Amino acid sequence: MTAEVGFSRGLEGVIAAESALTYIDGQQGILAYLGIPIEELTEHSSFEETAFLLLYQKLPKRTELADFKQELLRHRTLPEAVLDVLKRLPRKTAPMALLRTAVSVLGHFDPSPDDVSTATLQAKALKLIVQMATLTAVIGRWRKGLEPIVPNSDLSHAANFLYMLTGRKPTDEAARVFDVALILHADHEFPASTFASSVVASTLSDIYSSVCAALGALKGPLHGGANEQVIKMIAAIGDPARAEPYIKEKLTRKEIIMGFGHRQYKTYDPRARILKHYSEKLAQQAQDPCFFQIEEIVEKTVIEALGSRGIFPNVDFYSGTVYHYLGIEPELYTPIFAISRIVGWAAHMIEYLKENRIFRPTTRYIGPPLGHYTPIEQR
Ligand code: CMC
Repeated sequence: MTAEVGFSRGLEGVIAAESALTYIDGQQGILAYLGIPIEELTEHSSFEETAFLLLYQKLPKRTELADFKQELLRHRTLPEAVLDVLKRLPRKTAPMALLRTAVSVLGHFDPSPDDVSTATLQAKALKLIVQMATLTAVIGRWRKGLEPIVPNSDLSHAANFLYMLTGRKPTDEAARVFDVALILHADHEFPASTFASSVVASTLSDIYSSVCAALGALKGPLHGGANEQVIKMIAAIGDPARAEPYIKEKLTRKEIIMGFGHRQYKTYDPRARILKHYSEKLAQQAQDPCFFQIEEIVEKTVIEALGSRGIFPNVDFYSGTVYHYLGIEPELYTPIFAISRIVGWAAHMIEYLKENRIFRPTTRYIGPPLGHYTPIEQR
């Protein structure tokens, strides 16, 4: 029998792995990738460079970054068969479910899916980073009955995604804001989705199975699915004057307010702070302040009620408004989270497999004492 190390509901406080990737100080609201604060990364880096940083655990030299970007460009198109499978699924299927199915299909086109050596996983991850972005854009269009757009090799990863989704080249400002959002979502230590993908990877299963598990976990409204719920709530409130009574009623009914609270942060999520800044900017530029104004009142009302208990806006609260002002529909918000977080899922898999040990926790048995089988006629 193995020694028990204690029980914690939802594994709160349990250290399940060692990692050099992401540092979180949940009391002070600090987030850093490989020791670099996200404020600096969003100021100076790009999604491509941040993806390299996490996958290779170092900032790239100029030539390394150029090669990495070139490789990303090379994989922007999808196997035809993946598009064929998508077309056969009900158009009303949730985009996250379509993305999960499509990633599973992609695995069938990998000649060596079970190779989990570091270099191979880095190459597979790079391909998935690009292909999941293309897939999400294709899914976004297909839901509206629109044909896929051929990728544009002159555009950055972020700009090309917006282009493939809308068919219009984004402004530099829009591309930059989207790039920032991608950087902010790239990794976050060991949330449910990253833990799920790492659990699957620890069995030495393939990366596609791991990513499908992660997508399943991210989809839930307590995790990445919250961003879609937030924007739907803001739309349902509809008018800044209704925001405070709406939230107060919800709190009286002891309902959870989406986009607030976090297992790690007991203060303002630093990602939310940056996204709030961009939401405000986009709202001003669009001369359409309504959603931002509602969010500010929601934020104030929730913090007044629950701030003393460590409940503040999390990343999902303001990401939705950013995407809203970029003209993206709510059902794509969680897939957009995924096209960035694929970096973190892969980076943690690669790191964990270097000193792999299968994840296999245990349960505390609370069932009946040992007894005997009761024949059916005696029950
Ligand atoms: N609204 C109202 N009350 C809340 C909220 C909230 N958003 N979050 C936590 N609480 C309360 C909760 O009801 C509980 O109260 P009590 O002690 O009276 O039972 C207390 O705060 C502790 O909450 P918990 O659910 O035990 O905390 P947790 O660490 O297990 O869960 C969470 C964290 C993120 C699942 C939770 O805060 C939540 O459900 N938030 C809303 C969903 C959401 O925004 N999710 C996105 C998370 S951040 C991005 C990501 O990882 O995807």
